[in-house]
Amino acid sequence: MQRKGIILAGGTGTRLYPSSISVSKQLMPVFDKPMIYYPLSTFMDCNIRDILIITTPHDQPAFQTLLRDGSQWGMNIAYAVQPEPEGIAQALIIAEEFLDGAPSALILGDNLFFGDAVVNAAKKADCMATGATIFAYYVNDPQRYGVVEFDEDGQVISLVEKPENPPSNYAVTGLYFYDGRAPEFAKSLTPSKRGELEITALNQAYLDKNELAVELFHSGTTWLDTGTHRSLFQAAQFVSVLEERQGRRICCPEEIAYRKGWIDRAQLDAEISRLGEGGYAQYLKTLK
Ligand code: DAU
Repeated sequence: MQRKGIILAGGTGTRLYPSSISVSKQLMPVFDKPMIYYPLSTFMDCNIRDILIITTPHDQPAFQTLLRDGSQWGMNIAYAVQPEPEGIAQALIIAEEFLDGAPSALILGDNLFFGDAVVNAAKKADCMATGATIFAYYVNDPQRYGVVEFDEDGQVISLVEKPENPPSNYAVTGLYFYDGRAPEFAKSLTPSKRGELEITALNQAYLDKNELAVELFHSGTTWLDTGTHRSLFQAAQFVSVLEERQGRRICCPEEIAYRKGWIDRAQLDAEISRLGEGGYAQYLKTLK
């Protein structure tokens, strides 16, 4: 069965306005494009074309206006709501009907990945009949994240959510690959002390069954989480520096869809017309 994608772009995290006038953070730009384009592009790079976007009920119409049904990029995009931020693992329960037994990939709407390692890891995960794959990345502030604990032989022995005394510097990134059983496992979790169905608890459930692969991303891969104002600013700087240096943009869904042959030139041109005259549209016009 083809893997389906879930992008969790609901509440909590950095909100810039009161909820009555709020624009979801994932709709705000990271440099030159909406934040949600980055995790969406990660899925596209991994050939995941069937995607569920989970948002707050308030934000859903804006996401639908931006991303539509996905056919403009040769994809299928569906929508669901998470009324309250009751935990990342709840995304698997909300997505159960959409997944319909298929393996899934879950990505947090405020995570930005760059580098070939993600695509290679996705291919590897696709070769596994059962189990889950998560990714760990060396950071200097592991207490902000889920953290991996290793034994002396480098084997993963546990996962801890935001520990005061981190057992390692390896943070768990916001990208997770699961087999078809994830919604069922998520339903058996109980809320943590902070009242959330923790994604770390779901991953720990796979680890307890010896069915969790933890892949380490090395320094050639970039992982940024835009969960604080500073990290949001740094993500924009990263994109700006990279694009200026290369003279190419990164993570443009139109470009990825066109290069993969999911849309033809006429469809690309139709998207360019929709976008009007800005620099983003100008860039798309230069694509050969
Ligand atoms: O970024 C990776 C980290 O993401 C992991 O290392 C942690 O294990 C994981 O718990 C998570 O930690 P965060 O502190 O970043 O989670 P946060 O509550 O900030 O939520 C991350 C994103 O997911 C944010 O954009 C909002 C969205 N979210 C979160 C929750 C809890 C939802 O849409 N619904 C929710 O219920």
